[in-house]
Amino acid sequence: MKILAIESSCDETAAAVIEDGRKILSSVINTQVAEHGLYGGVVPEIASRRHTENIVGVVEKALADADMTLDDVDHIAVTAAPGLIGALLVGVNFAKGLSLATGKKLVPVHHLKGHIAANYLAHPELKPPFLCLVVSGGHSHIVEVSDYTKFRILGKTRDDAAGEAFDKAARAMGLPYPGGVHLDRVSKEGNPKAFSLPKPRVEGSPLDMSFSGLKTAVVNILHNAQQRGEEINIPDLCASYQDVICHALVDRVMLAAKEGGYKTVVAAGGVSANSGLRALLERECKRRHLELFVPPLELCGDNAAMIGSQAYYEALAEHFADLSLNARPTMPIDEDFE
Ligand code: KG4
Ligand code: ZN
Repeated sequence: MKILAIESSCDETAAAVIEDGRKILSSVINTQVAEHGLYGGVVPEIASRRHTENIVGVVEKALADADMTLDDVDHIAVTAAPGLIGALLVGVNFAKGLSLATGKKLVPVHHLKGHIAANYLAHPELKPPFLCLVVSGGHSHIVEVSDYTKFRILGKTRDDAAGEAFDKAARAMGLPYPGGVHLDRVSKEGNPKAFSLPKPRVEGSPLDMSFSGLKTAVVNILHNAQQRGEEINIPDLCASYQDVICHALVDRVMLAAKEGGYKTVVAAGGVSANSGLRALLERECKRRHLELFVPPLELCGDNAAMIGSQAYYEALAEHFADLSLNARPTMPIDEDFE
């Protein structure tokens, strides 16, 4: 089964052709990161406009790179939730147009389920059930994946997502957008024990997390130093901050793995590119004899290949949509499109 997949939930316009959920025939990503970088974050209206301008070229290139035309594709898949609504609508409407014009079935895909499926593209041996840490710019979840289309949230953040926490602190420290990548880079020159920062725990809910207090602590450290005219060692602050976030995430995954008796741990989403997180997951999984899968760096961020992978399993489960499909800015990962 060959699926043409489209992704436009944030600041990447992407299209891919995927065979049987596991093989990338083509994958095209047009990123707007440089333009949003001028403003220090994604400007939703600019994102929608750029998607509108770029989507035709990106889809045409994905088909051409796969040496195919629309006739060779079985289904059309698209990210329909969650994300920036104006951005999502561009992809959803474009996919609906293609479906109407070709008579091919439409497969709506949940963006975070796509992030998880990025691992199927890189690891042919990976199959559910497994425990997954999903960490992106907008979400931090610990999820049980009992089957390709069955998800259960075991823990989540009560406020900021891990990626958001990285980006906001990075911005306060004067690092360029997108902050997570730069904070990761600068951390490598710092001492992770230099600053003592609050632990992002939620009383009574051991698998949930809260990152907003941690972010505020960093902002306060910076403000206080500025008022006193003191210099802050930014690499040390980055390393300490990253260390607390990574431990908070990995501690919870290990606890969930122990409680649920899982043998396999998977990481997904933009933040799974973080070098500290990958190293800590590796160390802790090895210690407990847990099998660990992380996406290769090129599949951690937003792309359409991962959407095409998840779409294959949604199509096998007959999870199709008709032309009344709408985009949704929020949608829990344990819900299906009706
Ligand atoms: O999954 P993603 O590409 O988009 C969303 O679905 O949100 O995730 C983007 C997030 C951003 O917050 C970005 O700063 C973060 O992932 N990120 C990182 C790293 N690379 C990307 N955070 C920490 N370390 C990294 N190396
Ligand atoms: Zn994403």
